[in-house]
Amino acid sequence: MLLFLDTANINEIKEINQWGVLNGITTNPSLVVKEGGDFKSLVKEICSIVKGPVSAEVVSTETEGMVKEGRDIATWAENVMVKCPLTPAGLAATSILNSEGIKVNVTLCFSVNQAILAARAGATFVSPFLGRLDDINEDGIRLIEDIVEVFRIHDLKTKVLAASIRHPVHITKVALAGADIATMPYKVFKQLVHHPLTDAGLQAFLADWNKAKVAVSSKA
Ligand code: E4P
Repeated sequence: MLLFLDTANINEIKEINQWGVLNGITTNPSLVVKEGGDFKSLVKEICSIVKGPVSAEVVSTETEGMVKEGRDIATWAENVMVKCPLTPAGLAATSILNSEGIKVNVTLCFSVNQAILAARAGATFVSPFLGRLDDINEDGIRLIEDIVEVFRIHDLKTKVLAASIRHPVHITKVALAGADIATMPYKVFKQLVHHPLTDAGLQAFLADWNKAKVAVSSKA
């Protein structure tokens, strides 16, 4: 499973990118406006930092506008990916952009049927939002499991990008469910690496090492 960061914040991206485990970025209009500045410059900067795909979302609601925006976004960088919403207009735009060789991440997916439609429209990625389903007392992980299974049965090539991740347990569960990619906020990425036993173990190893070095140097 590939690991994406769900942010448009340059400092967060630079920090996690240094770990050598970052495979891509997802942004959305809410995340972009939080950072301020010019959308295009921000996306271009992110694309220059990260090797993998960087999703940039269209804001038109009609097919024609989405296609126009998508064609423009696709020229910003080699690794940029256009994000279209899972609406009839978004599916039509996805289908047109896909026929032109432009990769699309279809976002705001909340059901298996929507995921099938995204795949049939030619989406490269489909993004089911599990956290937002959990928020309304539905089972987000179950949705990921079902989409993965349906795509397997019907040999649909669209990658399942588990989105709207809220905590580290979500990551383990979507990995077990067979998601191709998980995109998570900075806070969750940081939580993945920390374990109190790792910290305590390292502290003990270093304390022993330093004690032994002091003992050796006092003998010399
Ligand atoms: C994914 O592409 C979305 O940007 C994101 O995961 C939405 O997450 P949220 O429900 O925490 O806003």
